[in-house]
Amino acid sequence: MFLPIFFIISFLFSSTNADDFCVGDLNGPVGPAGYSCKKTATGDDFSFSGLRTAGNTTNLVKAAITPAFSTQFPGVNGLGLSMARLDLDVDGVIPMHTHPRASELILVMHGTLLAGFMSSDNKVYSKSLNKGDIMVFPQGLLHFQINTGKTQSLAFVSFNSADPGIQIFHLSMFANDLPTDVIAKATFLDNAQIKKLKGVLGGTG
Ligand SMILES: *[C@@H]1O[C@H](CO)[C@@H](O)[C@H](O)[C@H]1NC(C)=O
Repeated sequence: MFLPIFFIISFLFSSTNADDFCVGDLNGPVGPAGYSCKKTATGDDFSFSGLRTAGNTTNLVKAAITPAFSTQFPGVNGLGLSMARLDLDVDGVIPMHTHPRASELILVMHGTLLAGFMSSDNKVYSKSLNKGDIMVFPQGLLHFQINTGKTQSLAFVSFNSADPGIQIFHLSMFANDLPTDVIAKATFLDNAQIKKLKGVLGGTG
């Protein structure tokens, strides 16, 4: 009589968080559903300070993306959301890219950004954004952000996936060994332009 009740109570207490969350175990397997769950979690697992500091914008695009996806911030694993920080110098650009697994919301903290996306019927939706403005980029669509202001700009973005993915168009096209002739055929660009972009972006072939 007492024994089954004891088991039920101890089961209830020992399994309290089993379905509440699944802090990612970065040493475990990862698949489309994310990471497997860490056995024990603490408060530290649910906060992340990596977005405090600006990314390094000394690069070709004068911009930096600092992600807080499940790999950097395992606390969001399984929860279907994540964030990132965007820093752009004057004239900086987050080049044309997509997030295959998420829609994105941007919130501009300071500076001025020209942002836009193209729908699958090739219409352009763009907008100049200032401090406090938000804009949404629907899942999977090509989009960009350019600092058109006279100061550095800072924005935070959120995603409705813990692992939104990022595919930067020019890197996919020109930063690998896909032969120039094939790219020319597939894009209508001329070989000289393709070789130039491969040179700048580290591609070969
Ligand atoms: C930023 O990146 C540049 C280019 O890779 C590098 O030379 C520089 O040391 C970096 N700055 C910091 C503060 O890490």
